[in-house]
Formats: sequence, structure tokens, C-alpha cells
Amino acid sequence: MEVFPAWDEKFSVGNVDIDLQHQTLFALAEKSAKLLNRHIYKTEVKELLCDLFDYMQVHFKDEEEYMESINYPYLVEHKAMHKKIIKDMCCLIVDCSTTNDLKEKLYEIVSVWLLEHVLEHDMKIGIFKNSLEQKENKEETIEKDEQYDYVCDCKDMIHKLDYGLHIKIKYLNIAYKCKKCSKELVFNDLKEKTE
Ligand SMILES: [Fe+2]
Repeated sequence: MEVFPAWDEKFSVGNVDIDLQHQTLFALAEKSAKLLNRHIYKTEVKELLCDLFDYMQVHFKDEEEYMESINYPYLVEHKAMHKKIIKDMCCLIVDCSTTNDLKEKLYEIVSVWLLEHVLEHDMKIGIFKNSLEQKENKEETIEKDEQYDYVCDCKDMIHKLDYGLHIKIKYLNIAYKCKKCSKELVFNDLKEKTE
């Protein structure tokens, strides 16, 4: 069973309240991972799922207000990711029938969606906030320069996409096609895996 990382300063988004909320989410993730190893009643899992669901809604709203307050450049895309997580979570809760089903789904929600989201995407808010503090020129950010490799059917062709487009394709399932071969662009995560 995968062990969740403990919350660390490096995950900070540059706001004390949001950081505290993330710490609570990490604790909820830890709690749900432990549930998988013991016998549990359906009502217990449902309770935890509902707690998590309520907490996430409040947290997402607060985080969105924070992003707005610092003029985070990927606010729209990030908000769309939040919306999708909540929507997927609603579907899961409705679909689950057995206790084991519920337990597994709970684990999936906290590990795949929540932690991946906090570790990968919320951290970028922190990086942006840092760059605001460090640079006088507020237009210039680290994130704007980051690029993601996508491939199509064209031989040796790599499409370099920015973070905003990367979110749309990988997390919001919006398709983008290569103008040359007309095939959908696919994220080339080989680089991430081998690094
Ligand atoms: Fe977020």
C-alpha cells in the first residue's frame, strides 16, 4: 500500500490558511488509507467520504478566492479541474454498492485526485506566489515558461505546449489535434518516467 507523503513546507501555496486546509486533507488521506487494512462498516466509509466531500468543496472555494486575489494566471483551468474532481466524486459515491467498492473508491479519490492535485497543481500556485514576491516585474513568472511534450502521428514531431493547454488535454479531456496529421495530441510522459 502506497504511503502518503507527510505535508511539508515545500508543498506550501504561500498562504497560511490554504496550507492548513491542505494539511487537513493530507490527514484525511492518511485516515482513509488506514481504513483499507481493517474491517469497516459501510456507514463508516460513507461518513468519511461525505466529510471529505464537504471539506473539499469548502477548500476549493477558498483556494479559488486565493488564486483570484493573487491574479494566478491559470485560475480558469485550475477551477475547471476542481469542478471535475467534485463531479467525478459525486458519480463515484452514487455508483458504489458494496463496502469494499466504497473503500477502494475512497482510496482512489484521496490518492489519485486529491494528493496528485495538491502535489502537482496546487504547488504551482505557490511557485507563482513566490515569483511575485521575488520579481519586480509581476508579468514574468516561472510557470509561463514551463512546457509539456505532446506527440501526434507525425514522425519525430514534438508539440511543446504550455501548462494551461496541458491541463485542458490531460485533466479536462479536451482534445487538440495536430494541424498536419489531424491526429489528437497525446501527452508524452516518457520524460517524466525516465527522469
Ligand atoms: Fe487546487
